[in-house]
This record gives sequence, C-alpha cells and structure tokens, in this order.
Amino acid sequence: MTQASVKQASPVDRPRSQPATLPNLDAVPVVNSHNEWDLLEEVIVGRAENACVPEWHPVLQATMPSRHWDFFRQNGGQPFPAEVTTAAERELEVFCRELEAQGVTVRRPEPIDWKQAYATPDVASEAGLYAAMPRDLLLVVGNEIIEAPMAWPSRLFESRAYRPLIKHYFERGARWTAAPKPELGKHTFNHDHAEAGYDIHAGRSVITEHEPLFDAADFSRCGRDIFCQISQVTNRFGIEWLQRHLGENYRVHILEVNDPNAMHIDASFIPLAPGRVLIHPDRVTKLPDMFADWEVLTPPAPTVPDSHPFYFSSHWLSLNLLSLDEKRVFVEAEEQPMIDFLRRHGFEPIPVHFRNFGSLGGAFHCATCDIRRHGNLESYF
Ligand code: ALA
Repeated sequence: MTQASVKQASPVDRPRSQPATLPNLDAVPVVNSHNEWDLLEEVIVGRAENACVPEWHPVLQATMPSRHWDFFRQNGGQPFPAEVTTAAERELEVFCRELEAQGVTVRRPEPIDWKQAYATPDVASEAGLYAAMPRDLLLVVGNEIIEAPMAWPSRLFESRAYRPLIKHYFERGARWTAAPKPELGKHTFNHDHAEAGYDIHAGRSVITEHEPLFDAADFSRCGRDIFCQISQVTNRFGIEWLQRHLGENYRVHILEVNDPNAMHIDASFIPLAPGRVLIHPDRVTKLPDMFADWEVLTPPAPTVPDSHPFYFSSHWLSLNLLSLDEKRVFVEAEEQPMIDFLRRHGFEPIPVHFRNFGSLGGAFHCATCDIRRHGNLESYF
C-alpha cells in the first residue's frame, strides 16, 4: 500500500529540558541517491489530480509543441479536462502498485487544489500547474533535496505539494535547500523573439540571465559528474548556482543537445548503468570525450501515433525510463520496439501502460523523484 507522509513534531519545537530525538546521521541516510541506476528503495510518485492548464506565456511558446498552443491559449488557468487527469491517475496507481511489487517504498505528494490564483510583486498566475512531475522540481543529490527555481509562473509554488514529505525526510536527517526563489518579472523573460520564434541555438532564448533559473529535470546524475543542458527553462546562472552550491565534490557538465525548444534532458540523455547511456539519436550527436569508453545506445523511434495528445512534450517520452537497478527498467507497454531493444541489450524491461499520463508531459522518470537508492558517491569517469 502507498504510504502517506508521516507528520511528527520537529525537534526544534520540543522544550529544551527534554532530550531531543535528533536523527542518527551515522545511519544510512533516508535520502540517498547519487545516480540514475543504483537499486531503487524509495521514490516519490506524482499525482495528476486537480492539474490545471498553464496560462499562456512566452515560456510556453518557447517550450510547448506549436500544435497545442491554441489549447493553452483557450484553456489556460482552467482545470485540465477530467478525462485527461482521471486516465492519468489510473495509470499512476498501476505504476505505484508495480513499484511496490518490486520492493520499492512509494510516497505521494499532497493533493492540492491548483486552481488558486496568486500574485507576488513581480508576477501573477491564474492557477498553479500540478504535482504530476516531481522530477521537474526536486533534485536529489546524495542526501540533499534541492527545490529548483523554475521559470514557469504556474510552477512558482509547486513545492507546496511536497513540503510535508520534505519535512518528513528533513526530520530524519536529510538536507533541504530551496534555490533562490525567482522573481519571474519583466527582467526574467525575453519578449523580443516571440515573432521570430524561440530557438536556443539561434540565440533566441525566452529566459535572460537576470537570475538563477533551472528545472531539476534538466540535470542527470552520474555520481560526481552531473550532466545538464541549457534550455528554455535553465540558464547559465542557474547551472553556476548549482555547481557552486554542490562544491568541489561534483562536476556539472553542460551537454550539447540539439533542441531549439529544450526543456528537460530526460528524453534526450538517459544514463542506465555505469558505462551505458541511452541517447535521443537526433538531439545528442556529440558527447564529450569523457564518454569515449561508454556504450552509447541509440534506441528505436517511438511508435505512438502522431494524433496522441502530448500537450507538453514531443513523442519521445518513450526514452523517459525509470531504472530500478542496472537491469530492470520501466518502459511504456505499447512501445514494443523499445522493449525489444532493451531486451536485446541485456536489460529487463517492466512494461506499464503510461500514454495517458504522458499527455501531462512526462513518463516514468518525470513522474518520479528518487529518494533512496542503495549506493555511494562514486566517480564513473
Ligand atoms: N521536452 C522533452 C521532450 O519533449 C521532454 O521530449
């Protein structure tokens, strides 16, 4: 059964005369994940309930498929059609049960009513978005949970859904950081390229370098080496903030990814095991020399029909895999060529139906956030 978050008094609330039950920091950390492939023990799985359509904004023009722009323009700020969220939630439930059957502890964020308007001195939003994609927001590096400074105004307060869980982990010894809360005001966005179209490679980025911005899903962890892309939601300032925050134990590398509207690296560059990485064949055509002795796997194209309404993403969500360990990997049940490909390369695919969830913008990797994998900080290069 899915475990609810557990609330207990923080040690700092206790009277000083009482002995505080401080966490035993020498025990195996409750939050511990250094890469994408160590044995998965505990994970957060998102929720589709109450998802809202984000309001139209230049960051959507820069990142979302143009065939759905009218959908965003017409429905922005409103709840997602119930048939979309209900179908997604059903698939999430099956996915949770499958994770548990594989021995993984599953935690869920709070159900939040995202249809609440908010405003700060710099930005206003008709509604939040959802808690469907914990990977977009939360970056776990070792025993630390980092809340990302996200560029979409509809995601400014997304961490509310995860705070009870994060506090639960903090009380058990995890480290917890929220990156500088972004302003998302007039200096943050570039409105000049709306007509020509946003294209990172042509120097037409929707975000400026006014403040640090990144989505956690633009980073991929391989122990001491963390790979990322500059995207329409992740700027150099954000990457520099993260590198300096993590310090000299980590090396953050910027990869070249051919995607003018890049947002999230986990359908482009997917490390599956030490020395084995899966890449999007068109987007990642050049890896740094440090990958010279890695096996680079080029998967088959997705088979999902063009008509499938992936409002937030391309059809390459077939690459958005979640590894349980160096062999077992969750894969979309209808992507038979991908399943065959993984088997041919010695993996043990676990097929789960997830295309309806995909309409909300991600698959197994996006829908989850590692909390604990069995392993230590290592260098794989
Ligand atoms: N933005 C990525 C894609 O569409 C996830 O493939």
